[in-house]
Amino acid sequence: MKVIRTVEGLKTEVGKAREAGLSVGLVPTMGALHAGHLSLVERARAENDVVVVSVFVNPTQFNNPADLATYPRTEEADSRLLDAAGVDIVFMPTVEEVYPEPDTRVFNLGPVAEVMEGKMRPGHFNGVAQIVSKLFYMVEPTRAYFGEKDFQQIAVIKRMVELEGIDVEIVECPICRADDGLALSSRNVRLSAEQRARAPRIYKTLCRAAEMSGNASIAEVEKMVTDTLNAEEGMEVEYFTIVDTKTMQPLAEWPEKGEAVGCITVYCGDVRLIDNIRFPKK
Ligand code: PAJ
Repeated sequence: MKVIRTVEGLKTEVGKAREAGLSVGLVPTMGALHAGHLSLVERARAENDVVVVSVFVNPTQFNNPADLATYPRTEEADSRLLDAAGVDIVFMPTVEEVYPEPDTRVFNLGPVAEVMEGKMRPGHFNGVAQIVSKLFYMVEPTRAYFGEKDFQQIAVIKRMVELEGIDVEIVECPICRADDGLALSSRNVRLSAEQRARAPRIYKTLCRAAEMSGNASIAEVEKMVTDTLNAEEGMEVEYFTIVDTKTMQPLAEWPEKGEAVGCITVYCGDVRLIDNIRFPKK
């Protein structure tokens, strides 16, 4: 595995592969890798000749400086995991390397980026669009892999790709969970033992919501989830919204066509956890 820290080095290395007619799979990450990230890497490994993983804590997508400062950084462990997973190239640049000057680009991401995470974290998705577009221009991947844990992020990236006219296949991968149901996240290491023990109730409640959806309205399901989790000590739901899987727009009624997904953000103390669940078709 080659560890590359410069944009020029990355372009040269990936350029050789592309010139040889090889397919290139890219997995963008912010490091502190866990089995969720590795499931994306595994899929990329199975579907491409060359696998590139980026490990970069992108400052432009953090609207909260404390979140950026406390974001876990485990570069050595990450390298070992990626090497063992059969990755060809890992790109681990500094902030100055990626942003030699401030990125002032503003993406017209439209309605998909205006709700939920877009509303709660102003500027977050613009920052994601900045870094992911930069990575796409540097690597020119055949395919890029993203997890459904960040469901709305996938919709935003698809919109950015369309706006920029980038030729890349976006591959969506299922959520990887711990045995007790908690969605794996780099932020889970910041949970206290007590918070960690309580956190699986998020997914349990989402599963109850899916079961209940057959004979309850959207408003009833949203209320049940919010009330149940807010009743847990130290937990506070920021939002739980049932939206269309494509447009990300909140639904008032279960869709006749399309599909519904319930997206949630819960504060466990000061740790912000996100998760989602798809609802069975009517
Ligand atoms: P990060 O949170 O490190 O996640 C990198 C990728 O791993 C994302 O596509 C995310 O959805 C996926 N992922 C995280 N946890 C997962 C899980 N439990 N199961 C399946 N996939 C999971 O998302 C980002 O970084 C950044 O916003 C990034 C796209 C890299 C841009 O900076």
